Amino acid sequence: MQDSEVAYLKFDQDQARTLAAASQYLADLGGPQAPGVASQARQWAQRLQPILDASQKAVLQRFADGQLSALMCSQMTCPGSDPVPEHLPQLATLAQSERCLYLASRNQLLLALASYRAFAFDIDNEGQIVRLVGNFKGGGSVPRPGEEHNTRIELSSHAGLRLGPHTEAPYNCSVVAREGRSPAPSALILSARWNPANEPTRIIPLRGILEQLGSLHALALTSASFDFTRSDCFVAGQGDAGKATTMLQFDPNGGFSLRYNSYRFSLNDHASDAAARAFDAFQALVRDAQPLPFVLQPDTALLVNNNRALHGRDILQDNRRLLVRLFGYSRFASPVVLNDDPLLVRG
Ligand SMILES: [Fe+2]
Repeated sequence: MQDSEVAYLKFDQDQARTLAAASQYLADLGGPQAPGVASQARQWAQRLQPILDASQKAVLQRFADGQLSALMCSQMTCPGSDPVPEHLPQLATLAQSERCLYLASRNQLLLALASYRAFAFDIDNEGQIVRLVGNFKGGGSVPRPGEEHNTRIELSSHAGLRLGPHTEAPYNCSVVAREGRSPAPSALILSARWNPANEPTRIIPLRGILEQLGSLHALALTSASFDFTRSDCFVAGQGDAGKATTMLQFDPNGGFSLRYNSYRFSLNDHASDAAARAFDAFQALVRDAQPLPFVLQPDTALLVNNNRALHGRDILQDNRRLLVRLFGYSRFASPVVLNDDPLLVRG
């Protein structure tokens, strides 16, 4: 079953060249955060369609329709060389770098190829579309230069700690905005600028877990029985913890939508015994699941359906590992839009 949850999209040399030219064009315009670039990305995605073969179009359509947990894109190219540095540069330096802008632009283009829109939440990542994922705050298996022992390290993609299986926040709702809050991202896309130790991103497709869980437990996960803590990467003073929320809901596109975080979710005090048993059973299945490892490099990018799969990673081994992440909304998602271009939504 899990095989049908993951697909691969390999580009041939001509396609890779066109993709690279388009990504460079978008990066030269300023990348995902620059006004006007989203529509350029959509236009490039349309221009790329005729040079894709039928099976490539089919897997993109399956991802667009919410039928896949993950889509691994490979055999892409990057202009010039980009040797791994001795130490991870400062976040601000990286954010300005041409290579990060190039990879971010390519991610935006790949999202557009799968009919997703890149966006940012107002409450998360300082309202920026591009998130650089790396050990900027400590907690990796090797200390950063000057890293102090015994300081509390935040649980976020800017630290080196292990991140247990989770879907991306916010956790208030999926697909359609509720009570003035936008849904969780429909998808995320990750590429790597550097990954010298080949450290994998781990994916757990949820369909098999829900099928093993059984119908009555699954039904209990649709009750408002779960609490979650606030994410460490939210803007200071924004983004609340949640009380008595649901984890699972029916969704016509893909069959279901789930929100969960192994290090933030707990049982609400007023939850029923049935909900408690279902939560325990779900967590046991996630614990026992064999995650699928995907090693990212500059020539690959991984699209993850955030309603249908958990993702996570182990403690970082090499502090120079740097991923470039964007969130995407599917054509079904209905957020609270604060700014159209670049797309910014209320979290
Ligand atoms: Fe994550």
